[in-house]
Amino acid sequence: MTCLSFLCGRNSAQSDPVLGDELSGMQNVTLYSYKELTIATNGFSPANKIGEGGFGSVYKGKLRNGQMAAIKVLSADSRQGVREFLTEIQVISDIEHENLVKLYGCCVEQNQRILIYNYLENNSLATTLLGGGHCSIHFSWKTRVKICTGVARGLAYLHEEVRPHIVHRDIKASNILLDKYLSPKISDFGLAKLMPPNMTHVSTRVAGTIGYLAPEYAIRGQLTRRADIYSFGVLLIEIVSGRCNTNTRLPIEEQYILERTWQLYERNELVLLVDTALNGDFDAEQACKFFKIGLLCTQDSPKLRPSMSTVVRMLTGERDFDEDAITKPGLISDFMDLKIKSDPKPKPNAHLTSSNFNSSGSDTAANSTWTSAPSSHATFSFTAVYDRSS
Ligand SMILES: Nc1ncnc2c1ncn2[C@@H]1O[C@H](COP(=O)(O)OP(=O)(O)OP(=O)(O)O)[C@@H](O)[C@H]1O
Ligand SMILES: [Mg+2]
Repeated sequence: MTCLSFLCGRNSAQSDPVLGDELSGMQNVTLYSYKELTIATNGFSPANKIGEGGFGSVYKGKLRNGQMAAIKVLSADSRQGVREFLTEIQVISDIEHENLVKLYGCCVEQNQRILIYNYLENNSLATTLLGGGHCSIHFSWKTRVKICTGVARGLAYLHEEVRPHIVHRDIKASNILLDKYLSPKISDFGLAKLMPPNMTHVSTRVAGTIGYLAPEYAIRGQLTRRADIYSFGVLLIEIVSGRCNTNTRLPIEEQYILERTWQLYERNELVLLVDTALNGDFDAEQACKFFKIGLLCTQDSPKLRPSMSTVVRMLTGERDFDEDAITKPGLISDFMDLKIKSDPKPKPNAHLTSSNFNSSGSDTAANSTWTSAPSSHATFSFTAVYDRSS
């Protein structure tokens, strides 16, 4: 590997003298050679592939210094220049927080755009907690509390401490990775900005994470930190209930988690939504409070959603809130109605058809099944990642 401050003509990034100057000012970004990554992953062998998302394939690899890494090979030739790519990388590399995945560096040889991250042993919440029962990890109540507050802290850091503020845009179960102690780490922050906006996966990612999308973002393209807070609210409810946000195998009134949570909140029966896998071993008052915080975060009006630092204080019990003054969530079904009405020719395999189920009965809203979904969301805007709103 090569630290940018010591670069001297070893790959394409340094063949441009102006770029060379710029790179010399960059600290903390490590450049890896393609050769080193090839060795680390045994030639990017399928045996080392640990996943595939909208951005490309992810491989497990052992770096020269013995460290394990997750190596994400971005799909398609990025039209973004090396310089722009590296500038973005620097923003991410400078960020360090115990609840954010650490970016070790990148590789920019020829058309390759590869990101190298800290490897996390226990996969994502999507494959473990919400993976349909094929996982050996027991998520106790204490562990869930730790995961919820950890994710909230990581997001509060991105939203309120990093300058300029970063809106993640894709908070969801598959982007919450777990280390060997089941501490959560948010991954993929800033990544959307690294890809050209006209690439298919950008619209796919949005379609693919529909269950986490704040209505004002989905419909009007208004991206602020409040959209992330909405997604966090959905995730919080998923973690406590142990179920995905959308499950069309359930009776109609239970299919969308936010609708279900709202019904139970109104009936004062939220405790019924707590994951049965806990076998009753949880703090009922705290669990109901978490559901209510989830509802606060997903309120239809973005202005009513608490900031992430407030959410952290609510989760830890340092701050109280009026549990009776929560307004109705912005509901996915309302959004679906609108989408169906505005799409003159709904296509087969579009959203929430039975082809999007997995064996656990949950809709695979967060996986690459959605890459084939038609891009019927051309009116959405997905360009800004830094939130300049107040
Ligand atoms: N740092 C990491 N350590 C361990 N596993 C990882 C790491 N980063 C990603 N993975 C695994 O690789 C898989 C694919 O991740 P990736 O981020 O590419 O896709 P995704 O999160 O499913 O979708 P999206 O592209 O929308 O983010 C995930 O299932 C995740 O478990
Ligand atoms: Mg991801």
